[in-house]
Amino acid sequence: MLIAQITDVHIGFDPDAKPEELNRTRFRATLDRLFAQPNPVDMLLVTGDITDRGDRESFARTAEMLSQCPFPVKALVGNHDTREELLHAFPDTATDENGFVQSAFVQEGLLVVMLDTLEPGRHGGAFCEKRRDWLAATLAKHEGTPAVIFMHHPPIVSGIEWMDPDPSEQWIANLASALEGRSDQVLAIHCGHLHRQIVGQFCGIPVSVTPSVAPLVSMDLRAISSDKPDSRPLITTEPPTYALHRWDGTSLVSHYERVSDWEVIANYGPHLQPMIREMEREKGTG
Ligand SMILES: [Fe+2]
Repeated sequence: MLIAQITDVHIGFDPDAKPEELNRTRFRATLDRLFAQPNPVDMLLVTGDITDRGDRESFARTAEMLSQCPFPVKALVGNHDTREELLHAFPDTATDENGFVQSAFVQEGLLVVMLDTLEPGRHGGAFCEKRRDWLAATLAKHEGTPAVIFMHHPPIVSGIEWMDPDPSEQWIANLASALEGRSDQVLAIHCGHLHRQIVGQFCGIPVSVTPSVAPLVSMDLRAISSDKPDSRPLITTEPPTYALHRWDGTSLVSHYERVSDWEVIANYGPHLQPMIREMEREKGTG
């Protein structure tokens, strides 16, 4: 099973740009590559900041572009989104008993959990006691089933100071309490929000951040001061990247591909057949 992930599309950042806003161009390029790449995708998860302002028009534009997908699409909220408009644009989206946009399902023996980390008006993450209890109950209900979690906000400190949470924030403690003792069951946590590819750990579980569709955040780990704008680069035009998470019934691995700025320099023809044969022979499969 292949779960594709894209994140932080931010449609509506500059809706009046001519001929088209940059984020929409980048979104189209990402979908084009996702459709053209050779691996059959089973579902696509869009892990929040689907829009920049959470407005109906931007959600409608995004949903219209996603309607071309020949596979199911599931949407998560980010801090720039609104639950109401996400549910309006993606009416099949499941919510929990408290109205949070979080849900879980088992496919091919993998429990896929999608969390809601939105608190309206806040940039950073949120995960209240109600959401914590839902996650704890969901993992307990599926005890013994390997799980993967998708959520917008990474619960880790990356070193990109202006984007990071304070590790003592209550929502991080709430998430940790739901995940305590679950590092055998939860194979990975996949996030967005940081607009860069970043890997870390939380409660003994690997955490990965998929880069954004919208422009990236500069890889600058120096301290930053709100008192002193120092002209450092903050946002870059590094190309969008999507993820393909591969579950084979036993293990979960993640692949990342940039959608542009690269070329094929070798194709598999007869000249490369000896190399492939040799590699098969080494493994005893040839
Ligand atoms: Fe975000």
